[in-house]
Amino acid sequence: IPKNLESDDEEYVSLISSLPSDIDFVGRELFKYQESWYGNKMLQAILNFQRGFEPQDTDIIIASFPKAGTTWLKALTVALLERSKHSSDAHPLRLDNPHNLVPFFELDLYAKTSKPDMTNFSSTPRVFATHVPLHTLQEALKNCPCKIVYVWRNLKDVLVSYWHFKSALMKVEAERSLLESMFESFCRGVSYGGPFWEHVLSYWRGSLEDSKNVLFLKYEDLKTEPRVQLKRLAEFLDCPFTVEEEENGSVEEILELCSLRNLKNLEINKIGIMSRGVEHKNFFRKGEVGDWKNYLTPEMEKRIDMITEDKFGGSGLKF
Ligand code: A3P
Repeated sequence: IPKNLESDDEEYVSLISSLPSDIDFVGRELFKYQESWYGNKMLQAILNFQRGFEPQDTDIIIASFPKAGTTWLKALTVALLERSKHSSDAHPLRLDNPHNLVPFFELDLYAKTSKPDMTNFSSTPRVFATHVPLHTLQEALKNCPCKIVYVWRNLKDVLVSYWHFKSALMKVEAERSLLESMFESFCRGVSYGGPFWEHVLSYWRGSLEDSKNVLFLKYEDLKTEPRVQLKRLAEFLDCPFTVEEEENGSVEEILELCSLRNLKNLEINKIGIMSRGVEHKNFFRKGEVGDWKNYLTPEMEKRIDMITEDKFGGSGLKF
């Protein structure tokens, strides 16, 4: 049982004391639940979510491993669903950060309760987000045919992005010693939602089994062919672009609105702070493919590549 665990949730206390535990890159104790690693508060939130969530057929869930492109996918989804509803100045994305518009189950809604206030979700579809793998999410969905959109990204860029993000949260310079310990944790799979490879594979297999309800996107593809991927997303969400919209430049408008440059420069994302204390600006950095080359050693690269080939080889996943 973790030290200082204060909980009157007996099921949770009994569960957590039965789980394997390990230490992550900042010395924090993590617990292995349904094959993935979480801190104790997160674990309680996931239990709250699995017990209390009442899914609706029209729900849309954005899923990802942290730092794989969640913010971008949230923005694109909101922009698709909201298009033509707002004048450009009053667009929700200009007034708030994508993470406030699309809350996470385990980080926001269910952090403290299994019955959160859902009055903000009066219109449909409701859009939520999560970093848990598919099998853990499915337990909460209880066979409800929600639409799940997953985005993944190469682990080397995820790692470097995570390192900068963590450092920004701790309000320190990004130090090599932290990168090195994060690298070790990631290779062992011991980080929030990790191991990375099993996370990706859960959604990859889910998308093969049920392509109508699970869409599998890649950050790198969104970067190289944004139009194609945005149209895929629109079709999957049953809101395809009409010929007229395509001719009117609606696709480009959404891509421009959701571009890193545009979002990063909005006042709300320069100065805003989320209710859980994270500054909006921390979600926007470089957004480049291959930035890892500036930071990882050839040995680090080789080790990640070897594990990735081992885990993804034979899955049919292009990596
Ligand atoms: P970098 O740190 O490599 O720049 P997440 O949204 O899952 O937390 O991932 C954050 C990463 O996505 C960061 O990557 C961030 O810069 C990038 N990102 C955020 N918004 C983006 C956008 N609108 N377009 C492209 N990339 C974006």
